[in-house]
Amino acid sequence: MKNSELDLAHFLRSREKLATVVDHFSDYLNRSQESEMSPYLREVVSEPGPRVLVKRTPNSEPQEMIMMGSNDYLGFSNNEEIKKFICQMVMEKGVGVGGPPLLNGMTSLHRELERALADNKSQEDALLYSSGYQANMGWVTCLVRSGDVVVYDELNHASLFDGMKSFKKGTATFRSFKHNSVESLEEVLQKVEMKDRSTLFVVVEGVYSMDGDICPLDRIIDVAKQHGAFVVLDDAHGTGVLGTTGAGTAEFFSRESDIDLYMGTFSKALSMTGGFLAGPRKIIDYLRFFSRSYMFSAHLPIPTVAGVLKGLEIIKNQPSLRERLHENVRYFVAKMNEAGYRVSSLTPIVPVLIPNHISIREFNRRLASRGLFVNGIEYPAVKQQRIRVSLMAKHSRADLDHAVLLFKQIGEEMGVLSQPVSKVYETVAEV
Ligand SMILES: Cc1ncc(COP(=O)(O)O)c(C=O)c1O
Repeated sequence: MKNSELDLAHFLRSREKLATVVDHFSDYLNRSQESEMSPYLREVVSEPGPRVLVKRTPNSEPQEMIMMGSNDYLGFSNNEEIKKFICQMVMEKGVGVGGPPLLNGMTSLHRELERALADNKSQEDALLYSSGYQANMGWVTCLVRSGDVVVYDELNHASLFDGMKSFKKGTATFRSFKHNSVESLEEVLQKVEMKDRSTLFVVVEGVYSMDGDICPLDRIIDVAKQHGAFVVLDDAHGTGVLGTTGAGTAEFFSRESDIDLYMGTFSKALSMTGGFLAGPRKIIDYLRFFSRSYMFSAHLPIPTVAGVLKGLEIIKNQPSLRERLHENVRYFVAKMNEAGYRVSSLTPIVPVLIPNHISIREFNRRLASRGLFVNGIEYPAVKQQRIRVSLMAKHSRADLDHAVLLFKQIGEEMGVLSQPVSKVYETVAEV
């Protein structure tokens, strides 16, 4: 098979011996990088921001690119106030903590952050994990017990799936419902059989990472509560972006008090790494002692804790940043539609669907060679391939206009826009 015809799933499916698969993959990766067809592992060599210098392949010279592939929606990765506060805290408190929270790794700064997060999510308490991935693994493997039922949106994040996969068959029951469909949720809940003393969980995301669409949280909560469910919200992409104070999707729907467990990450708008769970104090205390990815992992380092604390303060006190971000979303979406694409989003994640008969790697290569850094998302990560554009508050009108111009030029060159738009999107819908 030619390199250009292989997708990553090919290597996952391979039944060859490990050494053969690894050799084959290494060869595939080298050739993809040489031909500039691999959009992975590009190195940013400048400071972060809306325009960055990037080495697109290990041997290429750095090239200036407009960054539209980052979750740094509010520009916090290079925010002066955050950088100053981190330096100050490092000078006062050092860098690392040298252990897990239950033993020696808890500091007053970590507790301050936990309280700030609980306050931000209108919950009683919170606890910190080394990543959002670990937070999802952490609650699923701790709170879900034999006989329990978990009903989740089919597009939930891999970290939830990995948590669910770790259960032995027949212990707990896991059922998905159709993406963002309240009717499908209702149907699944009606069929679920609950045993005495078992718990029913309903798990959704506030903003879905591949489509940028918002969950109909108010209606989901109503249905879930009618069935007595414990509602878990993964708001990785909603925090800092949605709601009157930027507290996220539950605030956007004014339903904070109906969330039983709030999960979030510091790796998107807060621009650091780490994750958290916020909820009733008793649940948080239980998690501290029984959630393995919390207990058996060192606590976050001081620079991260300080950076997130300052970031939360800025989100609350500087709404203009969020307003600027939403203005950029509205402008970009309108201009892309004028250019002939059919695009919609109310969040900084804007998916541009590309019909499956067009090479998305070549489309992305052309965008990159002309200075636009975006992420091409291929099967099996999504059923319908797409370029995922991620917008920032710091993008200027010139950045947005230039990106649209490149989409238009390449869309015409590659036949995405050469036929009436409705025709192109019929092909997309058929897939
Ligand atoms: C919806 C969702 N949940 C969880 C995670 C995991 O977060 P982290 O990057 O902190 O591990 C992500 C990150 O991509 C995400 O998009």
